[in-house]
Amino acid sequence: MKKLPFPLDQDKIHYFGYARTALLEGLRILGIKEGDNILIPAYICNVVLAPFNYLGIKVKYYNIDDNLIPNTQQIKDLLDEKTKGILAVNYFGFPQQIDGILDICRNSKISFIEDNAHGFLSKNSSTDLGTFGDISIFSFRKTLPIPNGAALVVNKKSNLNDCLYVPCNNPVIEDFKYSTKFIFTKINDLSSYFMPKFLRMLNKKAKIYKEESAEEEKNLAKYLIGYSNLSRLIMRHIDYEKFIIKKRKAYEVFLEMFLNSGEAEPIFKHLGEGVVPWVFPLKVKERELFIRNLYYNTGIKSFAWPALPEEVLSSQERFLSMYRNIVCLPLSSL
Ligand SMILES: Cc1ncc(COP(=O)(O)O)c(C=O)c1O
Repeated sequence: MKKLPFPLDQDKIHYFGYARTALLEGLRILGIKEGDNILIPAYICNVVLAPFNYLGIKVKYYNIDDNLIPNTQQIKDLLDEKTKGILAVNYFGFPQQIDGILDICRNSKISFIEDNAHGFLSKNSSTDLGTFGDISIFSFRKTLPIPNGAALVVNKKSNLNDCLYVPCNNPVIEDFKYSTKFIFTKINDLSSYFMPKFLRMLNKKAKIYKEESAEEEKNLAKYLIGYSNLSRLIMRHIDYEKFIIKKRKAYEVFLEMFLNSGEAEPIFKHLGEGVVPWVFPLKVKERELFIRNLYYNTGIKSFAWPALPEEVLSSQERFLSMYRNIVCLPLSSL
């Protein structure tokens, strides 16, 4: 049997249905509690707020620049005696520049939380993403075609016996219903590739563009779901080496298509050694138009990431313009 990739080969891993639940568990393990605060990037998906809201932990936003690099001076200025950690995201599966943040965490004796929800299988040269944080979270369901699947990895603190909260596994019937729904959605997605263009244009039901609702910031209860048995089965049988090669190749194909197209600008113009991207992110002129045209012409369902937190939406104009221009193209996988 082939060796499983990081972190599936670790003892210090704990499986969940969703990364936001893994984060909830991680915050508890780190002892971060009501009244404490955590610094998180303003460029983040609103669902990440759910575990903080659930536990009554305040978040303070730090900025990142157009190259997705964190503003470390601002991070230092935001620290106070209640700050217990800094979270950084490996955006789209690419390694994040975290040296400055690691220094701040070390000097201030606070935790570094590595949000590697996009970066399963990805590396910074030869070092796996997800090994840098005191805790790291993964969302396998983003990288792989599985109903659900996520993990908490505890890198630098005690062991998993410290787990205080474990959502129960899905009862068999629930898991079956959940998995069936997932399979139908996948078939529906796949069929759009083979549909003639005029049918795609008539297909009013196709969700060409969908905003994540603001409710997701508060609604964690819905996601306290265990790791699906179907996901477990699929993940055990994937040929990860082949999978990685395919993903990287798909990225290179898009890179060639868009690099000098003038139509859109890839965010990462170089695929570094070991990087396994989640998607192909690019800046476009008109997001909705680009998403619709790509769907009509090719059947590819691209999407916008992220749905920003309400607080960021209402206060940070620069992020709005940056966010409104980014589109993610899925990379073929299995
Ligand atoms: C950066 C980031 N972290 C965490 C999550 C949460 O992942 P999940 O949907 O598996 O809870 C997401 C997902 O949307 C994300 O984009």
